[in-house]
Amino acid sequence: MVEFNTVYNRRNTNCSKWDSIKDTYGEEDLLPLWIADMDFKANPPVLEALKKTVDQGILGYSPAPTSLYEAIQSWQKRRHDYSVSKEAILFNSGVVPSLSIAVQAYTKPGDGVLIHDPVYPPFAKVVEQNNRKLVRSSLLIEQDHFVMNLDEMEKQIIAENVRLFILCNPHNPGGRVWKKSELETFGKLCAKYDVLVISDEIHQDLIFAPHVFTTFTNVHPTFKDFSITLTAATKTFNLAGIKNSMIFIENPDLRKKFVDVQEQNFQNEINIFGYVGTEAAYENGDIWIEELLVYLTENINTVIEFIQSELPQVKIMRPEGTYLIWLDFSAFGLSDAQLQQQLVHKGKVVLNAGITFGPQGTQHMRLNVACPKETLLEGLRRIKHSFE
Ligand SMILES: Cc1ncc(COP(=O)(O)O)c(C=O)c1O
Repeated sequence: MVEFNTVYNRRNTNCSKWDSIKDTYGEEDLLPLWIADMDFKANPPVLEALKKTVDQGILGYSPAPTSLYEAIQSWQKRRHDYSVSKEAILFNSGVVPSLSIAVQAYTKPGDGVLIHDPVYPPFAKVVEQNNRKLVRSSLLIEQDHFVMNLDEMEKQIIAENVRLFILCNPHNPGGRVWKKSELETFGKLCAKYDVLVISDEIHQDLIFAPHVFTTFTNVHPTFKDFSITLTAATKTFNLAGIKNSMIFIENPDLRKKFVDVQEQNFQNEINIFGYVGTEAAYENGDIWIEELLVYLTENINTVIEFIQSELPQVKIMRPEGTYLIWLDFSAFGLSDAQLQQQLVHKGKVVLNAGITFGPQGTQHMRLNVACPKETLLEGLRRIKHSFE
């Protein structure tokens, strides 16, 4: 049984989650439940593999080994029923850098790029920083979870010269695990208007039964022609600092365009720890991830029970995947700045401000539950105290 209850002191370890908030907010003793990494140690075989690499003592240039391709292919097949071909697999130092490369490779300045609202903030940033036209389609809420607004999307695709859609599958911050049927309808809409789909699947392994993850490319035999998949072992296995991600591109023309931009920027080599950590994670991760999902489910239940009994004004979106919970604080009638102020300076707890995920995120917050239960309960008490 993996031990997820241990509380580690991450302060003064130069980690973004715990150490950057003092500078940001000017306060000591803030409790961080924000950025998406976990307060759990990585799986021991992964740490062993990394140590073994250090023990070699010489850390020269290093290509991706065949065994890494095999580990990725095996993981994708056994966990997601996706037979990714070896030639389709590319590497990069992160999913966000790959998003930027994709925008540069497949669109030109001024082209429309569609994203959902709300969605993971770097989606908007990579579009805007590359001088493409950002188009946001508001997600709708039905039966307490997000659904896509396909009618609005179709109108936007036509009106805004949309060439690319960046999909978050599963969805951050809402935790939606898009169903195969939803992805099929969405994909057919994109195909109808020649819109390429970049499917960010970094949360693909963090899925709670009975929900089932479907890789976009796998939904229909034709979808691989107009889509690329971005994923990584780093989110699943809490290895964000080793900076490695994969890009799966089955269509050779799309692959060439991506590689051309990667090579223009000399971005096609990954650090050795990224390769080693990813391979070890996929080779040894099945039991660890199953146990993690049990622990995260308990934490999600804890949040839901606490909010329902102690802060019933807050609406919760139960995640179907990811370790993130989307909370609606609109009942308090506070501005986004007031909401943040109150949580940070009164409650001494840091969540991600919903407004950073897009205009629809106003008066919302994103809570990260990937921490020991003790830390989570302390965070929940602090959230409650913010409103007393
Ligand atoms: C949807 C999504 N994509 C990408 C990332 C970050 O990926 P990377 O660290 O590989 O750039 C995150 C991190 O939380 C995320 O939620």
